[in-house]
Amino acid sequence: MQPSQSGGPSTPRLWWSDAICYQVYIRSFADSDADGVGDLDGVRSRLGYLELLGVDALWITPCYPSPMADHGYDVADPRDIDPLFGDLAAFDSLVAASHEHGIRLIIDLVPNHTSDQHEWFQTALNSAPGSPERDRYIFRYGQGDDGAAPPNNWPSQFGGPAWTRVTEPHGQPGQWYLHLFAPEQPDLNWSHPDVWADLEKTLRFWLDRGVDGFRIDVAHGMAKPHGLPTAPPDAFGLLDGGSQPDVRFDHDGVHEVHRMLRSVINEYPDRVLVGEIWVSDDDRFSRYLRSDELHLGFNFRLTTAKFEADEIRASIEHSLEAVSRVGAPPTWTLSNHDVARPVTRLGGGELGLRRARALALVELGLPGTIFVYNGEELGLPSVDLPDEALQDPVWERSGHTRRGRDAHRVPVPWEGSAPDYGFTDGNTTWLPMPDTWQGLTVEAQLEDARSTLSLYRHALEIRRGHPGFAGDELEWYGAPDGCFAYRRPGSTLVCALNTSSVTVPLPPGDPLIASAPLAEDGQLPPDTAVWLA
Ligand code: NOJ
Repeated sequence: MQPSQSGGPSTPRLWWSDAICYQVYIRSFADSDADGVGDLDGVRSRLGYLELLGVDALWITPCYPSPMADHGYDVADPRDIDPLFGDLAAFDSLVAASHEHGIRLIIDLVPNHTSDQHEWFQTALNSAPGSPERDRYIFRYGQGDDGAAPPNNWPSQFGGPAWTRVTEPHGQPGQWYLHLFAPEQPDLNWSHPDVWADLEKTLRFWLDRGVDGFRIDVAHGMAKPHGLPTAPPDAFGLLDGGSQPDVRFDHDGVHEVHRMLRSVINEYPDRVLVGEIWVSDDDRFSRYLRSDELHLGFNFRLTTAKFEADEIRASIEHSLEAVSRVGAPPTWTLSNHDVARPVTRLGGGELGLRRARALALVELGLPGTIFVYNGEELGLPSVDLPDEALQDPVWERSGHTRRGRDAHRVPVPWEGSAPDYGFTDGNTTWLPMPDTWQGLTVEAQLEDARSTLSLYRHALEIRRGHPGFAGDELEWYGAPDGCFAYRRPGSTLVCALNTSSVTVPLPPGDPLIASAPLAEDGQLPPDTAVWLA
């Protein structure tokens, strides 16, 4: 599985093919100006921590001017910085400082939609149906004699219909526009040449400022099916890992967009494209990673797998199989700002934490690119927030039936014994922080050898330095029920996981690191993983 993009075994590996990438959800990472919302200078102030943790790259979530209807994924101007997060000078300083720390910087790109406050959309609203200005988005007449029913039955990912009706410039109810997400995020029409030209301009704008790559939001979304057909109700998945195929996503035309991105980025050496690809079919997934498309694709299988050895192993095997078809490196992710934190997903409390730590060791032993979401290395749980604190559009759009993603976005606790735990110098935080997190702060965990932070630091250090991490493939050992063990062929390093309810014997080797203490007779307890050499 040597990445084909590297040009063969004698060329050096590309930096991202086994990188540790750390996702910074900017709002929640560190606040430098006391307004309770994280910002670019806040990220810069914590680069020392990220270097200590041992990360190779940061992926920062969108910081472009935005009304924040979807916390920055509604972009009003893709070539500037929102004052909430800083300005272009702060951005340039972050790029320079990251590089001084030996850390690369990947930024988010949002090609599927804009904000409804984007100049193009405002112009479209003030232009006539059928005008070139409207044609940059997806406007259609509604169904029924008076056009009062949406053009098709597609739902928005956040709840409610994917269509909103506009009032025409002459004051009458008129056309509808498509938004696969919030109404404040109208979908762009990727058949329009302006849309292509503008994205290319955006790419070059940030590449020239020194960014090391882009994370492509909804990379499976830009191309829409011909005729925007009405579909059976079960043809729609949900934002957080729903069923596939979904009639709204993964149409072949999307690959043209990725080929354009790749052709631009190829002019800038050593830059990477990683796509958010919620496509579960291995073959369909692999198509995004062909040698003239994206370098990496987020694989979300481990974010949805139950804590059962067979299911986790199947997730790993599918992920490896998908990328091996096209010679791309695999990627691994346990969480991000859209999905429940592993501690909570895997059972909550002590049990959830124990399992999350075990799954982390399984993940960190795998070949490929790892994405760690801020706070995952601290073992943060998702937070049960009161109704009045919820801000994710999902809460309102779903008529208060889905609580949305705020629970996984609570600010990072840095130090001290009470909220805001050093996150801000101000008096508030944009989401409330629990008053029980004093043991979870970076400060508390740095000096505690048994902490989750120490587990991550130690595992990342071993991953970087141990020869057992060479090689791109996996071999599986026979293992008791509810357990598995793998190693890289030709290596002596073995990772074993026990998801069963009984203690089991270990494969041969000396333990290097374990997610929980081993049993006194050296056996592997339930809900525990170990690396042996
Ligand atoms: C995926 C992003 O990760 C999510 O946070 C956002 O709401 C949607 N794309 C829409 O941009």
